[in-house]
Amino acid sequence: MIIEPRVRGFICLTAHPKGCEQNVINQINYIKSQSAINGPKKVLVIGASTGFGLASRITSAFGSDAATIGVYFEKPPQEGKTASPGWYNTAAFETEANKAGLYAKSINGDAFSNEVKQQTIDLIKADLGQIDLVIYSLASPIRTNPKTGITHRSVLKPIGGSFSNKTVDFHTGVVSTVSIEPANEEEIQNTIAVMGGEDWEMWIDALKAENLLADGFTTVAYSYIGPAVTEAVYRKGTIGMAKDHLEATAFTITDKLADLNGKAYVSVNKALVTQASSAIPVIPLYISILYKIMKEEGIHEGCIEQIQRLFQNRLYTGDAVPLDEKGRIRIDDWEMREDVQAQVAKLWAEATTEELPSIGDLAGYKTDFFNLFGFQVAGVDYTADVNEMVKVPGLV
Ligand code: NAD
Ligand code: NA
Repeated sequence: MIIEPRVRGFICLTAHPKGCEQNVINQINYIKSQSAINGPKKVLVIGASTGFGLASRITSAFGSDAATIGVYFEKPPQEGKTASPGWYNTAAFETEANKAGLYAKSINGDAFSNEVKQQTIDLIKADLGQIDLVIYSLASPIRTNPKTGITHRSVLKPIGGSFSNKTVDFHTGVVSTVSIEPANEEEIQNTIAVMGGEDWEMWIDALKAENLLADGFTTVAYSYIGPAVTEAVYRKGTIGMAKDHLEATAFTITDKLADLNGKAYVSVNKALVTQASSAIPVIPLYISILYKIMKEEGIHEGCIEQIQRLFQNRLYTGDAVPLDEKGRIRIDDWEMREDVQAQVAKLWAEATTEELPSIGDLAGYKTDFFNLFGFQVAGVDYTADVNEMVKVPGLV
């Protein structure tokens, strides 16, 4: 069929298999263009189908010759109805990995559940024995805790007082003011339950109990800090409380890994257009201003450049991993550069519907958004008939 984007707010209901495939091939080619990484050989990526998780899987496989298992939650295609993008991304990745002689299998289901953890354990036992890296890259609005059966929903709200700031509708370019009422205590706790570190720790506990973690094992989860303009709704808001919890969990997990000489890290990554971030108010306006500045400075990166640098210059240098004063890896260093943030603050004050096209990279934001779903990708013929019923070769 001919597949066109069907956008509803910050999601797109369709995805293009060829465009998703091309995105994955572009990321693989980027990794191949960089020097080899003396990195992990057997890797589990939880949240492996899009964004930073997909980039982590590609970097492990094509940068370090790793066998990879991916866990994700994606909608398969039906006749006449496309899959979600992560399905097509995974199909393309596993096809390319197999061509390169690399092991690549995956599990599609709820990573928060006991069932998916057990399936993953069985697969590692059968095929890999022990693993040396787990990347934890879930972004979800909802989690059912398998121990309590309680379903938690996260919220994106400030804490302590209401928040008012600029935001942009990235489809229309209209800049307006958004006001968000503060979260109550229950909403804070629910957000921590979804996006904090509890499930990450459950995964590592479960894998360790089965003796599936190799000596010198490493696990990494992703966090974000960001600028002053988003602080009230992000880092000091409900999601920030969850990230504080995630960061604290790294220390708890590291303690539990002492007998394996293992380490758990949180890496603070750059702001990027992903399905997760486009849903957060204020962030799209910040990203469009940030992109313009970082592109002008020649320091703009996408997920793949970020994760390549994380592996090459932080995790697998052969030396100790450089950490900030709170024990975190910082790969948001270029975003957070003083000169970059000073320009963001200046342009933020000037941002209006009229000014944004000249001071921000809204066009770049939009292209990245459509690219997430496989649209507007260079080299893809969108007038051609494509088969939506793509199979994921390594799906268990
Ligand atoms: P994303 O939406 O692109 O990826 C989310 C992944 O999680 C997908 O593979 C999806 O299938 C999977 N997933 C979601 N719910 C699941 C479930 N119940 N079971 C199994 N898989 C599930 O998001 P992203 O932006 O790559 O975010 C990944 C991490 O990086 C998050 O912790 C996020 O906070 C962090 N981060 C994001 C940014 C950013 O700007 N996008 C910046 C820094 C850190
Ligand atoms: Na991800």
